[in-house]
Amino acid sequence: MKNLIALIALALMPAAALAEAPAPDAPKWSLAIHGGAGTLDPAQMTPERRAEYEAALQAALDAGAKVLAEGGSAMDAVKAAIIPMEDSPLFNAGKGAVLTWDGTNELDASIMDGRDRSAGAVAGVKTVKNPILLADKVRTDSEHVFLMGAGAEAFALDKGFAVTPPEYFATPARREALERMKAKQLSALDVDHKFGTVGAVALDQKGNLAAGTSTGGMTGKRWGRVGDAPVIGAGTYADNRACAVSATGWGEYFLRVGVAHEICAFKASVYAPCRKVNTCLANCRAWRCIRRLILLFCPTPAQSGTVR
Ligand code: GLY
Repeated sequence: MKNLIALIALALMPAAALAEAPAPDAPKWSLAIHGGAGTLDPAQMTPERRAEYEAALQAALDAGAKVLAEGGSAMDAVKAAIIPMEDSPLFNAGKGAVLTWDGTNELDASIMDGRDRSAGAVAGVKTVKNPILLADKVRTDSEHVFLMGAGAEAFALDKGFAVTPPEYFATPARREALERMKAKQLSALDVDHKFGTVGAVALDQKGNLAAGTSTGGMTGKRWGRVGDAPVIGAGTYADNRACAVSATGWGEYFLRVGVAHEICAFKASVYAPCRKVNTCLANCRAWRCIRRLILLFCPTPAQSGTVR
């Protein structure tokens, strides 16, 4: 499992309300993004390439941060952060997505709103430039949660999404990886080097959480394979009562455990007793001392891996 590097972007609920007033300079919002898990080959990571990745990640952060700083919603921030990564050929999502065994791109994405746990997801779409927007459209404009393949594309057409030619998504680097995989009978783990799935979690100024994830899956995937990214509860989950999660790594492992929901459920179970204790002790003179102890178990937003 050590090599099955998994990365999870996690945003916690504003627990400060449970324990003590936030410091005056505490962030009123937070945003975390990821552009994939795994090891980049140091030989390929020249200073120029590193600068390219950093600039692309910064552009994604800036786009999401702008929304949040201006008082926008966590949902809008998640979409704003993911779109530039889907548009960048550096990541395994949208343009630059890895290729299937047949040399096509099949894109997966999902998004979830922590306010009401409404969610949308798509899998195996081939002609939608920004699958995260289509996932959100499923959430807002259908009575479903998860659409796949030709049906998802028909829905996209119905809703006015432009048809993006399949050639837009494939890059020479992804073609080379697929050819090398086939020629040398390698596994996806050997050619992907890093997974490159993208994701974002956000906490907005109103205290609402959201999470989103987008991916091309794994190089050489066959038979309509779908990973964790578009599966609500596996790769993506958000619940205002707990936290927001976007995962990246080898999807089969996240699917088996339902990782994103599992983490949220765990956080919810940690917070519930904290709330109760807080209410009971709110007027107690010994509260100040006890609160220090409780804080150990009630993480604040500052511990949530916040990126600003
Ligand atoms: N985590 C992305 C995938 O396995 O498809």
